[in-house]
Amino acid sequence: MLVLALESSCDETAAALVEGPVVRGEVVRSQTDLHMAYGGVVPEIASRAHLEAADSLVVETLKRAGVGLGDVDALAVTQGPGLVGSLLVALNFAKGLSMSLGLPLTGVNHVQAHALAPFLRRAGDPERRVPEYPLVALVASGGHTSLFLVRSPLDFVVLGRTVDDAAGEAFDKSAKLMGLGYPGGAAVERLARDGDKKAFKFPRPLAREGFDFSFSGLKTSVQTAYQKGNMDDEPEGSRRLADLAASFQAAVVDVLVAKLARAAKVHGVRSAVLAGGVAANGELRRRLVEALAPADVFAGLSEPRWCQDNAAMIGYLGGFQLEARHNILDLSAEARHRWPVGE
Ligand code: KG4
Ligand code: ZN
Repeated sequence: MLVLALESSCDETAAALVEGPVVRGEVVRSQTDLHMAYGGVVPEIASRAHLEAADSLVVETLKRAGVGLGDVDALAVTQGPGLVGSLLVALNFAKGLSMSLGLPLTGVNHVQAHALAPFLRRAGDPERRVPEYPLVALVASGGHTSLFLVRSPLDFVVLGRTVDDAAGEAFDKSAKLMGLGYPGGAAVERLARDGDKKAFKFPRPLAREGFDFSFSGLKTSVQTAYQKGNMDDEPEGSRRLADLAASFQAAVVDVLVAKLARAAKVHGVRSAVLAGGVAANGELRRRLVEALAPADVFAGLSEPRWCQDNAAMIGYLGGFQLEARHNILDLSAEARHRWPVGE
């Protein structure tokens, strides 16, 4: 089944054509440069940019896959969670395609789709090792940090979630405090390479308790350390700033790795998936593989391109939904700003 998928929940407009886990063609257009000056996503600017990009992205995706609209079997779209004005762009575009082409359309949960990204591969790539069900999955992005027990693509049980900031939000806010701009995850990672992660003693919030997360206290600790650190005194300040980035990153990594590894152990699964934008972090990926190896648990990591927002993951989960006739949308379907997985 050839599924055309669309995504516009935040600040990436994306389209993809997938057949099961095989990505036949895709395009992701990031709006980062439009929002950078504001230090965060501006909803009005985001929806406008989605609207301007949507049609050309679909045309380009079909071209890359070497197929026409007539070859598409079904449609999938991100229905939530996200910014409503942004979600509505892809949702309405998909409704229009569904009506004009007479194709079924399914509404996909963005967070749930992130968790399945490690199964994706490009057309022509050799088959890669993929996680096995049941598995545990941690989705850590700018808007979400949630831990799941996943029995099948359509059977997710929530084990825990953040009680305040998301992990990516902690990276972004700390980066902003350190003057590294927005979005800050990748910038913190780059700076941390030159730093000593033991230089600052930061808390590991809730590391040993349950499966919920909390990152807002850590951000406050970073702020205090930054203010006391005289980071503008050169050359010492630059070294201390790198130490601060490394110490902060180590605290987040410790918590995420500890919880995911413990969830795998408690639930007796052989695979643990790490997904979402934060999963692009090299230090986090290395540490997870190291932590899972002794227990012989497979670390399901997607290619970095599919950690960030994309439509391939939406099409992949959408394919299962379409087969199961799950959440098939008609013209009255609404965008869902909040949409806890499983509801
Ligand atoms: O999944 P995503 O593209 O969008 C959301 O659904 O939120 O995730 C974006 C988040 C941002 O907070 C960004 O700072 C973070 O992922 N991120 C990273 C890295 N690359 C992106 N965080 C840590 N290290 C990275 N290398
Ligand atoms: Zn996302």
